[in-house]
Amino acid sequence: MLVQSKPYRTIWPHPEQQEVVQIIDQRLLPHEFVIVDLRTVEDFARAIKEMYVRGAGLIGATAGFGMYAAALHSRDDHFDQDMRDFAATLVATRPTARNLAWAVERQLAALKDLSSSAAKRTRSFAVACEIADEDAAFCKEIGRHGVEIIREISRRKEGAPVNILTHCNAGWLAFVDYGSATAPIYEAQAQGIDLHVWVDETRPWLQGARLTTWELKEQGVPHTLIADNTGGHLMQHGLVDLVLVGTDRTTSCGDVANKIGTYLKALAAFDNKVPFYVALPSSTFDWQICDGVKNIPIEERSGNEVNQVSGLSAAGLTTVTISPNQTRAANYSFDVTPARLVTGLITERGITKADKESILALYPEKR
Ligand code: MRU
Repeated sequence: MLVQSKPYRTIWPHPEQQEVVQIIDQRLLPHEFVIVDLRTVEDFARAIKEMYVRGAGLIGATAGFGMYAAALHSRDDHFDQDMRDFAATLVATRPTARNLAWAVERQLAALKDLSSSAAKRTRSFAVACEIADEDAAFCKEIGRHGVEIIREISRRKEGAPVNILTHCNAGWLAFVDYGSATAPIYEAQAQGIDLHVWVDETRPWLQGARLTTWELKEQGVPHTLIADNTGGHLMQHGLVDLVLVGTDRTTSCGDVANKIGTYLKALAAFDNKVPFYVALPSSTFDWQICDGVKNIPIEERSGNEVNQVSGLSAAGLTTVTISPNQTRAANYSFDVTPARLVTGLITERGITKADKESILALYPEKR
């Protein structure tokens, strides 16, 4: 997507040094645009854990390239053991997004039958690039399918702006390109459909206030930032036509883990008969589990993210404390929206109801 009219992805191999991978440091956005070089597995693990990169798709793509770094740094005489150790380091960084383990497993499976470490290194670079390219291609397809939902609402409203509420950042910054929840929005914009996006600020890390606003501004999509608890009020007053969010892990029965607060939006949407759609590439499905509330691991991050807030002051990027000293803060990073509250899932293969049979009808190879 565009940054100051120049196209970017969120992760790419260094154009001159193939052993280096480059990312945008999302901790500094929207105030500073800084590109960071990653070389070692530790660099990749730190980038994921400390959220230089974040969002399920991008976490997966970063893990894919992290496994390439692992292949470069594995010893010839202990290659497979080193790879397994590096894989464990990467998988331990963040627990909820399924794409992370999916990318690591895909790399290990692709290298399994190759005999020389040189062949494994070459293959792991190709697989990392495949994972990234596929993520971008799948998001583009999500846009192609999802735009039909927006077009239908626009038709019903006789061309008046379609108001879409989104939570967190499921934009191109959360993937390699296009985004999941934003792909239908960008496609609708390209097709000339009038729309407007309500952006939840998304406490505590403020992915909405810092990232979604930035990327919508860069793409010229009309939007308004709202405090997290505003959505219910807007829905009661007919000011939301569609809730469109991403997901970090979706079960085979259609339960959806996404950024903390998503469940409350789904409840408000249900109460107000506002359609609630979730956009995801298939790399986000966890085919092994059905009950998401019971079985999806929910990341708990440092309470400092709740007790403090960062932003731009006259002195530059600054962090300030907003609660009394030593306040204990709980920071559950995700929640689970049960399938019964989800109107539909928008995938790269099409739109499906959020139930096991319908999902498997789209992915029959997972039966
Ligand atoms: O903690 P984050 O910023 O990695 O969480 C991101 C989200 O919850 C997004 O909404 C989610 O990844 C869905 S889009 C990939």
